[in-house]
Amino acid sequence: IGKEIIHFDSIDSTSNHAKAIALEGAEEGTVVIAEEQTKGRGRLGRSWVSPKGQGIWMSIILRPDIIPTHAMKITQIVAAAITEALRKFTKDDVLIKWPNDIVLHKKKVCGILTEMSAEIDKVNFVIVGIGVNANMDETLLPEDVADKAVSLAKYMDDDISRKEIVKEILYEFEKLYMDFIESRSIEKSIDICRQYSATLNNTVRIISRDSEVKARAIDLSEEGELVVEYEDGRVEKVFSGEVSVRGL
Ligand code: BTN
Repeated sequence: IGKEIIHFDSIDSTSNHAKAIALEGAEEGTVVIAEEQTKGRGRLGRSWVSPKGQGIWMSIILRPDIIPTHAMKITQIVAAAITEALRKFTKDDVLIKWPNDIVLHKKKVCGILTEMSAEIDKVNFVIVGIGVNANMDETLLPEDVADKAVSLAKYMDDDISRKEIVKEILYEFEKLYMDFIESRSIEKSIDICRQYSATLNNTVRIISRDSEVKARAIDLSEEGELVVEYEDGRVEKVFSGEVSVRGL
């Protein structure tokens, strides 16, 4: 991971570029990183504010041998790696808000966007987009985002360069990703996700198209799904996305 790092001063989106070069055959582990993104993308079609020098905007190309419904596993490995890395730079509690937000003092310090190109039963490649708010000028953020986001710098003891943080993230990610490739299991990552979860043991709202049900988050499955218990005692694995966590 990171043997090849492609660096841009400014680009539309590192994930767009990573996708383009992955289609041309770029190798697994290639990293695209930019000082600034002019069209940074977040989940659910949202935009991601990515001003120059104020964060870590990077994407990693992966070619795991998995089926499309298991893409979630990759997100959990990345979340675990980022958490391990960021915890080295701050003594404050870096936690994972399942499935793909990293929070610090209940505010988002990093978001993960996992996208893939796949056929019905085979993943061609996965692009993992990572956005870490390092030292954001909060006045640049849209109002609805500003009070939910936080910069890492606010809780860091020393003035640590973004390069150091990138190195640490790639180092932790490589360890956990290689373990997954070799063992075919994300158990190590899931253990970290469990240990540093902001979601487990909390009440969550399971929101689907036409209903909203309360449940308690009780565990993470070996596939990276959230295991929830409804008020009537029914236990279910929640696959992805549409779960909002109360109290966060
Ligand atoms: C989220 O919505 O929480 C995910 C945000 C992901 C942002 C990163 S920044 C690098 C990469 N390039 C993008 O356009 N988005 C991701």
